[in-house]
Parts: sequence; structure tokens; C-alpha cells
Amino acid sequence: MNDIQRPLVRPRRLRTSAAMRDLVAGSALRPAQLVLPAFVREGASEPTPISSMPGVVQHTRDSLRKAAVEAAEAGLRGIMLFGVPEAKDAIGSGATDPDGILNVAISDVVSEVGDALIVMGDLCLDEFTDHGHCGVLDDAGRVDNDATLERYADMAVVQARAGAGLVGPSGMMDGQVAVIRDALDGAGLTDTGILAYSAKYASAFFGPFREAVDSSLEGDRRTYQQDGRRDGREGVREALLDIEQGADMVMVKPALAYLDVLRQVADAASAIGVPTAAYNISGEYAMLEAAAAHGWIDREAAILETLTSISRAGADVILTYWATEAAGLLR
Ligand code: PBG
Repeated sequence: MNDIQRPLVRPRRLRTSAAMRDLVAGSALRPAQLVLPAFVREGASEPTPISSMPGVVQHTRDSLRKAAVEAAEAGLRGIMLFGVPEAKDAIGSGATDPDGILNVAISDVVSEVGDALIVMGDLCLDEFTDHGHCGVLDDAGRVDNDATLERYADMAVVQARAGAGLVGPSGMMDGQVAVIRDALDGAGLTDTGILAYSAKYASAFFGPFREAVDSSLEGDRRTYQQDGRRDGREGVREALLDIEQGADMVMVKPALAYLDVLRQVADAASAIGVPTAAYNISGEYAMLEAAAAHGWIDREAAILETLTSISRAGADVILTYWATEAAGLLR
């Protein structure tokens, strides 16, 4: 053999055995970095399956408590709650009612699992408004940024009083983090943190979520969520603005179609010591589940590969509907 046929450098040596591969694996997923997003439906007596998200349900208050205990036992450290109210109105009154479904669910879970999980509340009006937008509307029917901020401030205080460790503003209103921080501090809730959905893109992959929360949205969210044709620098700008306003953690969402943005945001945030989260969203879940249901891919391997890709792109924290199951697979 001549030199060209006999390689001097052989990268395959690092892949020769399972032990060698484990030895050099580097980044490994940890159950503690996974967060379970969960839906809870007001007035429900049985969990309601979500057809576009096989395996995910709208919980009753009781079944949510059980899911939270399972999540904690599996080694998760966080749960992100979404409420599905019985009644909706123009300003999303249910969101700021201390007896509203999301707020009672937060306190249910806190009383069930104590400090084992960080209980997070989705801080957005879309589940609670009859028009389905993330904010309140002005007379012309447009989302009114600054009027929405007042609603978010109230929502943050109610969630924090219910026991949320982190509130998750996901409405993409300008200035939302500053207003929420100010409201929390003004109410003496200085220990409640903010996980800001900072770089959030108007995405077709949110589709199944609309069923999950019985959304009444017609139209789209393109005047507030980001345009995916813009590059990651806009995501970095949004994240840095949120950090300046007091965000404790920033998030990129969706994850898979935006791994480049995730990498850029994670680099910028980690350079100043701020953790980055990524949300492996409903449509990403549905795609893989659908393919697996057809027998077209190895479901468990594909789940772990998906979560690994998000971690490798820089996510310190990953929200995923597979969180509890994946934690089990990692053990
Ligand atoms: C807003 C919110 C959405 C999701 C999380 N928070 C929907 C949206 O912005 O349209 C989507 C999560 C998912 O698709 O899994 N309350």
C-alpha cells in the first residue's frame, strides 16, 4: 500500500468500543436539565388526550399533581405549566384571577412536590383571550404592546404568589421583562426569577399547541413573534435586551429549525454568565411521534438524538414533552 491508502491519522480509533465512545463523549444530557411542559384544563374530571400530540394530555388538577411527582422522581428539576380555562374574554381575565386554572395549578404542584421542582408558569394571555392573541387589542384590533404589559405585570405577581419559582413571559411584547421584574420587586417577590422566551419565532411548528390549549386564534402572530428569515443576530439582540431588563435565563424557541440561533444566543448569554434554555416544541414532538407510529424511525433513539442536538447547540436547559421519559432513558 502506498501512503495515500494507509492513513496516518485515524479518527475511528476514538469510536472503537462503547467504553471509548463514552469516555470521550463530552456533552451528555442530564435529567436535571430537562423541564416538562404540562397542560391543565379547568373543570376537567378526566385527562383529555391531545390528538396531535400522542401521549400528551390536558391534565386535570389531580392528574397534573401525579405527573409532577413522576417528573420529580425521574430526576427532573422543572415543570412549565399552561392553563386551559373554561371561559375566555378580551383581556384574558382568567390569567390574573388567583382562582384561575393556571394559578391554582401552580400552587397545587408546589404543595405536592415542594422544592423538588422549580414550578414555572407560562406568562402569556393567548390561552385566556377569546381572540387568542398573546396580548390585549386596541380599537383597531391590533395587539397593544404597552396595554399588554400591565396585564403581564399583574399576571407575574399572581403566579409568583401562587408559588412559581420562575415566570416565563412568552408573548414577545417589547419591554415585558423590565415591567415584570419591576412588578415582582414592587410586591416584594424578589426571589421569583424570569425565564424569558427571548428569541421566539412565528412558526408552523406551534400547530399542535393550538389544539393543546384550545386556542381561538385566527390569523397569526407575525407582528410580535420574530421572522425566521432574519439571521441569529436579531435573536441575540432580543436576548441581550431581556438580560439588561433583568431576565435570569433566556430561551430560544422553537429549537430544531433554529439551532443556529440557539448557538449564537447561547454563546452571547454564556459569555456573561446567563443560562440559555431551548423549547423543543409541540410540532417537533408531533413529527417524531408520527414517524415513529408508522415504524419509520427508532423512536427512543430519535428522541435522545433530538435532545442531544439541542444540548450540543448550546442549551443548558431543555423544555420537552419527552422530559420524564427521556430522564428514564438516560438512567
Ligand atoms: C404562548 C406559547 C406558545 C407556546 C408556548 N407558549 C404558543 C405560541 O406562541 O403560539 C408553544 C409551545 C409549543 O408549541 O409546544 N402562550
